[in-house]
Amino acid sequence: MSVKRAKITGIGHYLPDYVLTNAELEKYVETNDEWIRSRTGISERRILKDPDKATAFMGAEASREALKDAGIAPEEIDAIIVATVTPDYMFPASAALVQKRIGAVNSYAFDLSAACSGFLYALSNGAMMIESGRAKKVIVVGADKMSAIVDFQDRTTCILFGDAAGAVVLEESDSGGIIDFVHHTDGDEECMLYQPAGGSLHPASEETVKNRMHYIRQDGRSVFKKATEGMADVSLEIMQRNNLTGDDVAWLVPHQANLRIIDATARRMGLSSEKVMINIGKYGNTTAATIPLCLYDWKNKLKKGDKIILSAFGGGLTWGAIYIEWT
Ligand code: UT7
Repeated sequence: MSVKRAKITGIGHYLPDYVLTNAELEKYVETNDEWIRSRTGISERRILKDPDKATAFMGAEASREALKDAGIAPEEIDAIIVATVTPDYMFPASAALVQKRIGAVNSYAFDLSAACSGFLYALSNGAMMIESGRAKKVIVVGADKMSAIVDFQDRTTCILFGDAAGAVVLEESDSGGIIDFVHHTDGDEECMLYQPAGGSLHPASEETVKNRMHYIRQDGRSVFKKATEGMADVSLEIMQRNNLTGDDVAWLVPHQANLRIIDATARRMGLSSEKVMINIGKYGNTTAATIPLCLYDWKNKLKKGDKIILSAFGGGLTWGAIYIEWT
């Protein structure tokens, strides 16, 4: 009996129009274009300026495009998973708002919180729904309006992040598709990268607002060290358990947090730079959206049989990798 697998049959994205350049950031904080580009690889990022729009709007736009790409109707979708750390509300889930916006009336929908690894956690869980036979068609979204939680007075974080969404449709596959995944979590480091207030531990109060606790806090140097090790380790782990060498891998799709982390991961995997999807220069770190945005940008270059490794690291701490054989 052949193993039932899931494959990606449609890819969509959404990018806000507003381009926030390094030059504009120089007006808000003590920084400069040269520092940002050489330390991170980022030249510009997109910002969703419309105050009436947020993560669910972007996720719905990306989902609509993914559905069109897959050639299926919203009513056919069984489940929607939205990976995000910037939901429109604490509840209901942004996935429920996406469901309404796209008219996926027969689906159930929920959010998944795993920061920058969110899309990979969501993709593997969507794949397992299909592998189990409980779902036939699933939408997996990675969407974040990071500008809502970025402190534009903190030069160590405000230069990094942008807003965007990416989405894929998963369907059953006869061959290839999502072959394997490895995920890790280390809850010991909850304060290395987090948003201190707004949850049930520190609900909004005068004090949390005064202390700027609703913004991202990151110990950049420590996260950098952990991410450089973690992303490379997990990528090698998934290659080894699937007997893949650098020559076998057609593409690395890395989370786009820092060009130096991506380069170090590719080097340890034995990959040449032309096999690595990199768009951090244009969009910055869009948290859960980075990986589907790469898939969207490289969609026309992917060939049947390509062996692809997706790899991410983020707050939690969370990290993981997925092995896909493109069909
Ligand atoms: O996606 C989730 C996972 N997140 C990540 O993977 C991010 C990981 N961390 C990083 O990417 C890097 O640590 C950063 C890009 C955040 C920082 O780069 P770094 O090379 O680690 O710089 P640093 O924190 O060691 O700071 C070096 C210097 C410091 O000055 P001193 O202490 O040496 O005088 C900083 O104050 O650069 C200074 N600095 C800046 N200078 C100009 C920090 N931010 C800026 C800035 N512009 N924006």
